[in-house]
Amino acid sequence: MKNSITKRWQEAQRAELDWWQNWRRLPFYTNHSFENNWRKVLSHFLTPSEMSNAQTIIEVGTGPHGVVRYLFEDASIKIGLDPLLCRFDERPRPNKNTCYVAAVGEFLPVRDVAADLVVCINVLDHVMDAGQILREIRRVLKPNGRLLLEIHTFPKIFTPIMFLDHPHTYHWSWSGMLQLVRDGGFEIITTRQFPFPVTLPLKSWAMPNHWKYIFGRHFMRLSYVYCSPILPAKSN
Ligand SMILES: C[S@@+](CC[C@H](N)C(=O)[O-])C[C@H]1O[C@@H](n2cnc3c(N)ncnc32)[C@H](O)[C@@H]1O
Repeated sequence: MKNSITKRWQEAQRAELDWWQNWRRLPFYTNHSFENNWRKVLSHFLTPSEMSNAQTIIEVGTGPHGVVRYLFEDASIKIGLDPLLCRFDERPRPNKNTCYVAAVGEFLPVRDVAADLVVCINVLDHVMDAGQILREIRRVLKPNGRLLLEIHTFPKIFTPIMFLDHPHTYHWSWSGMLQLVRDGGFEIITTRQFPFPVTLPLKSWAMPNHWKYIFGRHFMRLSYVYCSPILPAKSN
């Protein structure tokens, strides 16, 4: 069982690398600005004072163009983690307050109770053990810390056919995601769902490698949960 999950994950990671080598050819990402996109996304959840109070920020599954690459310039320390970091052509460079570590979220190389904010966007459907990653995030968050989590979710009705989608190890529904977050020991502060923000040209219908984006445009949601760790009850 463990072996088959690892195999599927490795296959998904090969597909992921391939996607990042070719994403600039996709017509709907022409002129895409990651910085503007992340700024807009975070403004839905964090107030300006939460943005400036977050001094230690960790991004799990940062990819080549993650949040810590573009935002939180004044933070004390930002850490971007991703198992593929050394393999991305467009990999980010460390700077005065940002470091990058090639690591999996199931074992975060970070001490307990260190982070003000953890960001994990479009990652938990690519991993080996989503529950273990949430437990690790909870371990590294300060008691008043925050997690901003995003997962691409699908209606439950599609679950039986989603095994065909090999670039992903998991397929989450909205209710499954909420359960995952609660089981991970988090209290939900805000949730938002957005449609897949791409405009597909008509010619996409004639291109089989675009059909998954057409499907996503109609059925997938970018599902966000902003949450905080539940504190253990105090014993008298
Ligand atoms: C779809 S990309 C998202 C990247 C970035 N968060 C973004 O939104 O642009 C998914 C990322 O998750 C990373 N990933 C896959 N398995 C992981 C794991 N077990 N722990 C942490 N990151 C993982 C992949 O290497 C990949 O960079």
